[in-house]
Amino acid sequence: MKGTFPVSKFGELRTPFYYYDTELLRNTLKTACSEAARYERFELHYAVKANAHPQVLSLIRESGMGADCVSGGEIRAALKAGIPASKIVFAGVGKADWEINLGLDHDIFCFNVESIPELEVINQLAADKGKQASIMFRLNPNVGAHTHANITTGLAENKFGIAMEDLDKVVDAALGMSNVRFIGLHFHIGSQILDMGDFAALCNRINELQDRLEARQLLVNHINVGGGLGIDYQHPNRQAIPDFKSYFATYAKNLRLRPHQTLHFEPGRAVTAQCGSLISRVLYVKQGANKQFAILDAGMTDLIRPALYQAYHKIENISSDEPMETYDVVGPICESSDVFGKAIDLNRTKRGDLIAIRSAGAYGEVMASGYNCRELPKGYTSEDL
Ligand code: LLP
Repeated sequence: MKGTFPVSKFGELRTPFYYYDTELLRNTLKTACSEAARYERFELHYAVKANAHPQVLSLIRESGMGADCVSGGEIRAALKAGIPASKIVFAGVGKADWEINLGLDHDIFCFNVESIPELEVINQLAADKGKQASIMFRLNPNVGAHTHANITTGLAENKFGIAMEDLDKVVDAALGMSNVRFIGLHFHIGSQILDMGDFAALCNRINELQDRLEARQLLVNHINVGGGLGIDYQHPNRQAIPDFKSYFATYAKNLRLRPHQTLHFEPGRAVTAQCGSLISRVLYVKQGANKQFAILDAGMTDLIRPALYQAYHKIENISSDEPMETYDVVGPICESSDVFGKAIDLNRTKRGDLIAIRSAGAYGEVMASGYNCRELPKGYTSEDL
């Protein structure tokens, strides 16, 4: 089954471009927020890195979600969309001084700190402003996620977070500083996770760490478990809204939250991936020695996931209902990895047809580059057309 697109309205737009279905985005946000609201003290911060299109962020703000930012640019984008600073968390293994100062100036909710040198800098910059910064420590839980190696973050070998055995040391360091306030623990094990057992494993790890803190009479008010809930790239229409219900239920069941604690989540992909498609035009159909190529005007500069992670995105010819034929679907960039899919069945394809590359609303437009001096793709919502 193909997706439904306003193909006649696409005619005037220059390809390639991203198209965001705001009705699906609104429904996804509604589901995520209402499933979280079944539990007391579950709070959502949308991971801005997945998609920072201004209209997308403005719908996020309307839903009541906060923002998880990893750069000064993302903090600015979130604030510009009207997301209150009190709902912004700032993560990242390398925060520059100006970015920390930006967070301090706006009194963001907290900094997720990844090392003692970073903690010292935050303490100093906060002291310079006569402020106290709220901080959580990002711990590396050494929990493997069953996903692509490039998007696994919670293993000991990854650069992210602080090793669990260093917890006491970093907490002591924070308690000895007067311009940081230690308020909680932060985790993120990886992305595109569909096995709820991975999240349950994270919960067990957090339970152990909380027991360790409690043994020291230390209780924190906040636990942040990051993002990671995956989506169905194979069948974007079958379950267009990810299974937020099982996701939150897994945490509710496995994590021993203390009565006063708030649990924070940072979903990115699960919120925006399915509402977005990369729309492209077929430039040429070329017969190779033993296969045919559909050559698009979109390339890896517009959507890098297939080249970078061998990621699968469903590809559809939205201009043709003719019988199926098999194509390698490729872009125009001078790189052999500029391939969206090999041996893909498409309705018979000709020059000028529009192609939709599905499930591209997360880590699509935001990861575009200008390689080959190409223009960045634009993003349109269904409300723009
Ligand atoms: N929180 C933290 C600390 C993260 O590092 C990430 C993603 C998220 C939340 C959001 O995770 P999500 O819910 O979207 O899985 N470019 C890659 C994905 C990189 C994810 C990086 N961190 C891709 O295209 O698959």
